[in-house]
Amino acid sequence: MRIAVLKEQALGETRVAATPETVKKFTALGAVVAVEAGAGAFASITDEAFADAGAIVGSAADTVKGADIVLGVQAPDVAALSGAAKGAWVAASFDPFGQKGRVEAYAKAGLEALSMEFMPRITRAQSMDVLSSQSNLSGYKAVLAAADTYGRAFPMMMTAAGTVSAAKAFIMGVGVAGLQAIATAKRLGAQVSATDVRSATKEQIQSLGAKPIFVESVEGIEGEGSGGYATEMSDEYKKAQAELVSSHIAKQDIVITTALIPGRAAPVLITDAQIATMKPGSVIFDLAVAQGGNVEGSVADQVVDRHGVKIIGYSNTPAQLPADASALFSRNLYNFLNAFWDKEAGKPVLDEEIGDAVRLTQGGAVVNERLKGG
Ligand code: NAI
Repeated sequence: MRIAVLKEQALGETRVAATPETVKKFTALGAVVAVEAGAGAFASITDEAFADAGAIVGSAADTVKGADIVLGVQAPDVAALSGAAKGAWVAASFDPFGQKGRVEAYAKAGLEALSMEFMPRITRAQSMDVLSSQSNLSGYKAVLAAADTYGRAFPMMMTAAGTVSAAKAFIMGVGVAGLQAIATAKRLGAQVSATDVRSATKEQIQSLGAKPIFVESVEGIEGEGSGGYATEMSDEYKKAQAELVSSHIAKQDIVITTALIPGRAAPVLITDAQIATMKPGSVIFDLAVAQGGNVEGSVADQVVDRHGVKIIGYSNTPAQLPADASALFSRNLYNFLNAFWDKEAGKPVLDEEIGDAVRLTQGGAVVNERLKGG
C-alpha cells in the first residue's frame, strides 16, 4: 500500500495533506508514504522532518509512481496522477459542485475520487470532517484580520487620556466558523451579537456570552435541513431578516459573515444600501466570498472600500494558517482512512454509509448520488 502526498498546485494554497505525525501513523499501519520534496514548505515542515518520520521524499513523478492512495488538500489535476496505480484513490477536497469538469476527468482516468467535503455529518465522522476543522480556523482568522484592519481597538480601555469604547461585532451565520468567530471576538473584548436561520443556534450563541439577533415574527421557521445544514428560506423570512439586519447593522463596527448553503451560491445577507448605513471605519469580513459572497461588492483577496466601510474576504482563509490547517486536515485524512483500515487486506475498505457519501467516481463513471441528482 503506497500513499502519495504531492505539493499542492493551486495558487495561494499553502497547506499540505500530511504531516510527520500522520506519516508515522500511516507507516505504523504498514503503508509506505511518499512525499514530494517541498510539499510542506509553506506549512513549516521540512523535507528532513518528513524523511525522519519515515517518508520517501522525492520528485513529483517518483512520489506518485505506483501510488494506491493519493492525499491532497485540493484535488490535483488528473495530469499529475498519470503514474498512480490503476483505480487509485484520491482523498482530497474536490469542490464537487464547482468543479464538475475535474470530477468527470477523474472518472475518465479510472481514478476513485473521495471528496472530503461530502463526509456525512454523523457523530462517528466528526474527526474526519475537513469542513469543520478548516472552518474553525477560518472563523478565528476572519476576526483577527478584521481587527487588524479596524482603526480602533476591540476591548474597552479606561486610560488616563480617556475611555476607548468596546467594538460591536456582529456574526452572521453561526455554524462552525461563526461559533469560533464569536469566541474569538469575545476573547478580544468586543460586544458580540450573532444571527442564523437555524433556531438551534440561539442557545449556542447565548452560551458563548453573545446576544442572539433572530427573526421571531415569521411562524414555523426551523431553518435546518438534512445533516444540520441550512435550507433556502422563504421570501417572507428573507424580508423579515433584511429588516432586522438593517436596523442592527447600522450600529455595528465589525461584521463577520459565514452563511453557506451546500451546493448553492451563498445567500446575500448585506446589500450595498445597508453598508451605506454603517459608520465609516467599520469592517466587514465576508467568509463566503469564494462561494459568491454574503456581502454585495465583496471581492476575493481584496479590501474593498464602500461608503467608508472596508470589506475583506480571502478566497482561501485556512491557507492563512498553514501549519495548523495542515495539521488538522492531515489528521482528518488519517482518521478517515484509519477508521476503515483492514489489517488483513493491508488497505482501507470503506463501508456504505461513508464510502457512498464521499465517493464521486469509480470504475470510469461518476457514481455520487448528490452529483447525479443535478
Ligand atoms: P455552513 O458552513 O454550511 O453554514 C454556516 C452557517 O450559516 C450555518 O450555521 C447556516 O445555518 C448559516 N446560514 C445559512 N444561510 C443563512 C442565512 N440566510 N442567514 C443567516 N445564516 C445562514 O455550516 P457549518 O459550519 O458547516 O455547520 C452547520 C451545522 O452542522 C452546525 O450545526 C454544525 O455543528 C454541524 N456539524 C456537524 C458535524 C458532524 O456531526 N460531523 C460536523 C460539522 C458541522
